[in-house]
Parts: sequence; C-alpha cells; structure tokens
Amino acid sequence: MTEISRRAILGTTAASTFIAAAMAQDKVAKPETIAIIGTGNVGATLGKAWAAKGHRIIYGSRNPGSEKSVQLGMDTGNGAKVLTQPEAAASADIVLLAAPSQVALSLIASLGDLSGKILIDAMNEMSFKDNKLIEPDDSVGLAARIQAKVPAAFVVKAFNATNARVMSGPKTVTGGPVTVPLAGADDKTRARVAALATAIGFDVLDMGGAEALKQVEHLGRIYVAYAVTHRPQRLELNFRTWKA
Ligand SMILES: NC(=O)c1ccc[n+]([C@@H]2O[C@H](COP(=O)([O-])OP(=O)(O)OC[C@H]3O[C@@H](n4cnc5c(N)ncnc54)[C@H](OP(=O)(O)O)[C@@H]3O)[C@@H](O)[C@H]2O)c1
Repeated sequence: MTEISRRAILGTTAASTFIAAAMAQDKVAKPETIAIIGTGNVGATLGKAWAAKGHRIIYGSRNPGSEKSVQLGMDTGNGAKVLTQPEAAASADIVLLAAPSQVALSLIASLGDLSGKILIDAMNEMSFKDNKLIEPDDSVGLAARIQAKVPAAFVVKAFNATNARVMSGPKTVTGGPVTVPLAGADDKTRARVAALATAIGFDVLDMGGAEALKQVEHLGRIYVAYAVTHRPQRLELNFRTWKA
C-alpha cells in the first residue's frame, strides 16, 4: 500500500498519521534483517518479539561470545546471531540503537559506514535527581545529533516512549492499545519502521520528518518521568487522530 493510499484509508492530517496495529498474524509477509545494538532490556525484548514474527535478528554486543549473548541468540530463535557491534551494523540495513544515550555518539562513530541505513533511535536522554526529572539541554535533540553525525543515514526516533516489558506484547502486558510515536527521515522510511511496530502489536503515530524528532523525545520524557514519579503506576500513550 502506498503512503498516500494508507493515509487516505486511515484518516490523517498533514502533520501526523495514525496507523493501527497489524491484525494478529503469525509471521510478517516481508521479513527484515535488523541489527540490534545493545542486548539489554530493550534490545533483547524487541529482538525476541520481532524474531517471533519472522524478522531476522543480528544482535551487536560488546561481548558476543559471552554465555549471556549465546543464550540470547538461542532464546531469540529464527536464526538470530550475536556479533560485535560493528559486525552487526554492517550486516543489516536497519539498525536499532538500544544502548545508553550517554554513549550514543561515540557508539555511532564505532559502527563503521552507516550510509544508506535506517537507524532507529530508541534512546532517552534524561536523568533524575531526588525522583525529579532534570530537564536536559535539548536545544538540539539526541536523534538530530545522531543524524548530523551520519547525514547519509535515515534516522527515525521510535520505541523510546514505552517500556521494554510492554514491547513483549503491548495489549497483553498493559490491557489496552499502546501507541509508538515516531518521527524522522522520509515517509517511506517511517512506514518501514511503523510496520516493525505494528507487527508486534503497537499502534503508531507518525509525527513527521526530522522537524518532529524532538517532539518524540519530549513524549519519551513524559513517559519516563511519569513512571519515575508515580511508581508503581505506569502510563501508556494511546493516541488517536481525527479530522477537524
Ligand atoms: N528500559 C526501558 O524500558 C526503555 C524503554 C524505551 C527506551 N529505552 C532506552 O533504550 C536504551 C536501552 O535501554 P535498556 O533498558 O535496554 O538498557 P540496558 O538494559 O542497560 O541495555 C543497554 C545495552 O547497551 C549495551 N551497552 C552498555 N554500555 C555500552 C557502551 N558503553 N557502549 C556500547 N554498548 C553499551 C549493552 O549491551 P552489550 O552488553 O551486549 O554490549 C547493554 O545491555 C536506553 O537509551 C534507554 O533510555 C529504555
């Protein structure tokens, strides 16, 4: 389906598109190969969820030979491998960045040539003091800095405004629909990332191109700040759009 027909069917404004979760299905029609940099909560959960839908997962780890990495590869299934971070990035044209935000820019520099690749930035740049969010200096947001560092890559911010546990099954874990807001790059690239989200049960709010990257980062901050200040209560984003 083209972007234009998809927008016509789903209802949209010029600024954003709402895309509903895919109907529950076992496997995706077009499996992607996805490199996942960082094998922690987010990387491992998304890796397993995507592999269950038929996507090929290549994790990038600082310790690909460790017992934990080997176990993760086996638990993920569908032929998942664990390589070094640069090897993983070189093996796929979609690269999920799921490492600590503090190392994001040096990590990018260590991954080799990322030209032409889709970089999904799931990282939240934020810190807390006495349970209160310290507002970061985000005059230029993290995703924009990543894009500036690798101008020939296609940076999309996504999966930062929900929780790793939720990624294993949004509706079953939270009891209702969960929206992944995303932004960056071009329509076609965002549609590819949106399909990765809907395949594992998320709805998607396509906020737009690079101009909307910081909006998605703000939503991530709202998400995490609420979780930190209202423990054990959690918040999930559940957006819908309408035509005025
Ligand atoms: N946790 C959540 O619910 C959640 C939700 C949305 C977004 N996020 C964001 O997603 C990112 C990952 O979160 P997480 O909870 O998955 O973190 P995590 O469990 O600490 O995992 C991060 C992984 O990154 C790798 N890593 C750690 N230090 C590194 C370094 N110095 N250089 C390169 N790689 C390094 C490690 O994998 P290896 O040991 O295999 O190298 C580690 O397991 C963070 O930026 C976070 O803000 C988290």
